[in-house]
Order: sequence, then structure tokens, then C-alpha cells
Amino acid sequence: MTAIRRKAAFAALIALGLLAAVPPLRAQRPGLPPEEFAARRAALMERLKDGAVILFGDAAAPAGAHFRQDNDFYYFTGNEDLGAILVLLPESRASFLFLPQLTDREKLYDGGNLLDDPDGRAKAGFTQVLPSTSFDEFMARGLFRAGGRFHLRLSPRDALDQARYEVALYEARRARTRYHDQISADLDRIAKIRERYPQMELRDVAPVIDEMRAVKTPAEIDLLRRNGRLTAEAVKQAMAAGRPGVYEYEIEAAALAVVLKGGAAGAAYAPIVGSGPNSCILHYDRNDRKVEAGDAVLMDFGADYGHLAMDITRTWPASGRFTDEEKEVYRTVLEVQKACIEAYKPGATTKDVREHVSAVLKAKGIAPRGLAGGFGHGVGLSVHDVPLGGVLKQGMVFAIEPGLYDEKKGFGVRIEDTVLITADGCEVLTAGVPKEIAEIEKLLAGRGR
Ligand code: GLY
Ligand code: MN
Ligand code: MN
Repeated sequence: MTAIRRKAAFAALIALGLLAAVPPLRAQRPGLPPEEFAARRAALMERLKDGAVILFGDAAAPAGAHFRQDNDFYYFTGNEDLGAILVLLPESRASFLFLPQLTDREKLYDGGNLLDDPDGRAKAGFTQVLPSTSFDEFMARGLFRAGGRFHLRLSPRDALDQARYEVALYEARRARTRYHDQISADLDRIAKIRERYPQMELRDVAPVIDEMRAVKTPAEIDLLRRNGRLTAEAVKQAMAAGRPGVYEYEIEAAALAVVLKGGAAGAAYAPIVGSGPNSCILHYDRNDRKVEAGDAVLMDFGADYGHLAMDITRTWPASGRFTDEEKEVYRTVLEVQKACIEAYKPGATTKDVREHVSAVLKAKGIAPRGLAGGFGHGVGLSVHDVPLGGVLKQGMVFAIEPGLYDEKKGFGVRIEDTVLITADGCEVLTAGVPKEIAEIEKLLAGRGR
């Protein structure tokens, strides 16, 4: 097919609605260039100045799932090989990646790692890539250069769908009985480092990492914008699919199909599709109920695209029209969310946002019903990303997610967007999916019978 005919065929498919207007399909997964990770390593070394940084990668994928590297390790390496260790020596600006030397059998089943890839090694920009069996010998040799100090992650890790504090919280819950209280891989590693290197002072590197991760780089912002468009398209298509008679999981499937085709690795958290009474359960994810006429459907969904999450919630009437009573509740949530977005700009504090929300609701004669406004939670490598601190800065990305939940009536409303703080305000990365009542009803009216 010539290029022109290919283009014409593509346009025809779009016109027929067979291809969604989402970012073009890519031969390769979206991601950042190696220079970005090298620049982050240099910036971390610049800030720490001395000692040795040690960061551990994950050693295995969860059962039945694709491997997704530890967030902090990925942030500084871009590397997704199993069982990796990163060492940085800030005084000499040197970086070392340690990797397992794989057997032929391992390579046959899973492919090789960076030790087996000279081109990839050169591009990745580490001073050296070494076999992990030499890690302790390397550390022993270099101790005199480390200034008596290791910078390790002593705070909890985070995960794609959990903030650091949530990982700690869930571990604490797991440890309620002594049969489930095994320490985490991180705690085990810290104990081993203490045991082998008792003369070294261990400092927590997580606060410095959090400051870096909280402000997104231009290349990350580009990926986040693309994820915002892709996830918005997915939720839009899910809304169109979310009518009476379908199961909640069918709505989930409609969204997943869009993001997987668009190059995402999957969902950034278990998709939430709550119809009727399930719309009142904040993190409901069984998604196995049949949607009934008269239900509201609350969907909370985000793609994991180029290792970056997204977070959207929309609520819509399955039958296509909100009742007057539902409209009133919906409007309150929407006005609070929009007033928050109006107030976001560099330098804004939670107090500034709350005051603006109160003033807007008062001027419009809307009772706040307990909603006040704030910053929500950061979004990045994790959907509950590192903390934002008390004051907004350009380059921060976070989700704002007001909601009202009436369990007696089985009607929950949440409206959530992910926003980027710009030089003088904010950009809604997820604006491509309707949230005004008239827009939603128009979208639903257009889905036919
Ligand atoms: N999707 C989880 C949350 O909204 O925080
Ligand atoms: Mn959400
Ligand atoms: Mn959220």
C-alpha cells in the first residue's frame, strides 16, 4: 500500500469509528531516553555530595503479572532487569550497575540483561555494569571513598498503586498475626547492610528522591500529557459502554482495550467500576455487578503509560439522564472540583485553595455539604506519588478528587482529574473526557440504543 493509500484507509477507519482518536500505536513502548536517567543520577549526586548511594531493584515479577521495576530504582536507571543494584559515588560522579550473570537457560526463557548487551550498556551511560556477585567486594574496596556514609532507602518503598505510607500501612496490617509478619525485602536488605558494614552511617535517601520526583521534567510532562489524553479517551469509551444491562467488568474492558492498544503497560491500579450501591465504596474493584436502569456508574481509571500513572474518575447515569436530585449533588461536587482547579498555581497553599472554594460556593449559593477543597495526591511513577509539600510548584502533577457518597440512596459521585502546575496556573491533563452534566448527557445520548 502506498503511504497516501495507507493514510486514506486510516482516515476511513477513524471516520467509521473503528479506530479511536488516541495517540498513534507505537512500535515500542513509550519511555524516556537514557540521557534523562543519567541526568537524574548526576542531579542526585550533586545534591548528596558524599558517601555512596545504594539502591536495589526488584528481583521478581508478581505472580501472573508483567514485571514493573521499583519506582525509585527506575527513576535513576530506566533499567528493568531483575535483581539489579545501583551504586553512585557522588565525589567521583561515578555510577555502577550490578546485574546477575544469567545462565544460558535463563537467557533462553527470559532473554538476557544489560550485561549481555554491549550497545545497550554504552547507551545507558553507567561508568561500569558489573556482575552482582562482585557487589560486596566492590563495596569493601570502595568503603574508604564512601566517607563513612551510605545513602539508602530507609523509608518504605512506594508501588504503582500505593504511596510509601500505604505500603507501610498494608505491611503493618499484614503483620497482625505472627504467621504473616515476615519483614519486607527492603527491611531485610537494610538489616544485611547494617550487619556487613557496621562502621557505616546509614542515611535515608528517600526525602531527597521525593523532592526530585515531585517536580516533573519536561520529558515526563510530555508522557503524562499523552497518558492524560489516552486515559480520557478510555474513560469516554467506557462511559459510552456503561448502560443498563452490561456488567461492570464490561465497562472496565472497554477502557482497558483503549489503553493497551495505545501502548500502556496496563492499568495503574485495579480499575474501579461501581454501579448503584457500589458507587459508594471508594476503592470497590470487584466489578461484577450488572448495571441496572436508574443506577449511577462511578468509574475510577488510569493507565500506566511509560511508567507514569494517570487518575480520572467520572460518574454518569447509566440510563443517560441524571434525575434533578442527582444533578444537585453532582453540581456541588463539580463546582468544588472546578473551584480547586481555578485556584491552582505556583505558590498556592491548601489554605488558599480552601478559601477560594468557599468563596465560589458562597457566591453561587451552593451548600458545601462538607466538601472543602485541597491538593488531592501526587501522580507520577505511582498513582499515589510522593508528597507535594504544602506549597505548589511548577511541574507538580496531582489528582483532585472530591466526592459525595449517599449510601442510603446508593448514589455516589466522584469527579477526578489529574492536573499539571504550569507557570501561572494549571493544565488539566485529563480534560478530554466530559464532566459537565450537559456534555455527559450528550455523550450518552449519542451512543444509540
Ligand atoms: N484511583 C485511586 C485514587 O483515586 O486515589
Ligand atoms: Mn482515582
Ligand atoms: Mn485519586
